[in-house]
Amino acid sequence: MKRILITGVAGFIGSHIAKRFLAEGYQVIGVDDLSGGKLENVPAAVEFIKGDLSLAETMERLPAGCEKILHLAGQSSGEISFDDPIADLQKNTISTLNLIRFGIKNKIERIVYASSMSVYGSVPDEPISERNDPRPLSCYGVGKLASEGYLRVYKDQLPFVAMRMFNVYGPGQDLSNLRQGMASIYLAQALNNKRIEVKGSTKRFRDFIYIDDVVEAWWRAASYPSARNQVLNIGTGLKTTVGELLEKICINVPGSEFFVQGSTPGDQTGIFADVGLLEKILDINKCTKLDTGLPLFVTWARENMKSLKIGGSTES
Ligand SMILES: NC(=O)c1ccc[n+]([C@@H]2O[C@H](COP(=O)([O-])OP(=O)(O)OC[C@H]3O[C@@H](n4cnc5c(N)ncnc54)[C@H](O)[C@@H]3O)[C@@H](O)[C@H]2O)c1
Repeated sequence: MKRILITGVAGFIGSHIAKRFLAEGYQVIGVDDLSGGKLENVPAAVEFIKGDLSLAETMERLPAGCEKILHLAGQSSGEISFDDPIADLQKNTISTLNLIRFGIKNKIERIVYASSMSVYGSVPDEPISERNDPRPLSCYGVGKLASEGYLRVYKDQLPFVAMRMFNVYGPGQDLSNLRQGMASIYLAQALNNKRIEVKGSTKRFRDFIYIDDVVEAWWRAASYPSARNQVLNIGTGLKTTVGELLEKICINVPGSEFFVQGSTPGDQTGIFADVGLLEKILDINKCTKLDTGLPLFVTWARENMKSLKIGGSTES
């Protein structure tokens, strides 16, 4: 049986990816320090190791014999990265470097890394390709870019794929954390008290990608020979303004309204992906539209409202 190591397995995206690899017949070893994720997210069939990947003692507890590493562990909020930039560096970048060294020592075939569109920073209002000069605006984005840099440095010993994910949303997203995930922050507030507080202009725009499409991209990135040592945008190529997203949420949660107050440090004005390379390398040329994905997200949230700790009325 093929073995794979998935980090951040108790988080939103990592837990979905773990389910896919289990369904495909993999033995999944999952690591997470549960700083953000939840044990109940970890599929039962995963061999779970609790540990912080920035610490040497965790690395010593990881098993040999994994074919690949899918590295999703990390502090996942740009806003939170400003609270303690050193902790962010430890949790995100030092963890990546530790895993690269572990991967080389254990002759691992490939590491797939959860990078982010945050590496780009301020960009023009046009599809942003991987060739765009990255100039991150948040400590989080700086750490993601540094991680990519380390992956590139060691690529001959450990091939990599860097997945620059745009705004991922869908069932399983943490609705209790009002500082991470634009769609989930707004939806949580709508479900909680029908008042959505928006930090920043509704004219900002993003590229919202549904979780199932992200899982498919990771599945292919882990195995396609053409993905070796590639940096890929994982988005839809569709531009959605924050105002459009809010209107769609208000339609799905009738009676909701939104108001703008303040701003988020290091927030990008607007960004959406050029998906040419994603199509070429991973042969992905269709995506779930927001009009399909958002109702699925809302239905899941409503069905699970009792067990979910849905956040309060403010974002921080
Ligand atoms: N959600 C998005 O839209 C998005 C977009 C771009 C990039 N990403 C990146 O993708 C990855 C997964 O995102 P997510 O939305 O599932 O976030 P998440 O917070 O739900 O999951 C991250 C998981 O990593 C764990 N973790 C954090 N630091 C760790 C450490 N040092 N050692 C071990 N475990 C640790 C957390 O407990 C959590 O379970 C993150 O690296 C994030 O930065 C997410």
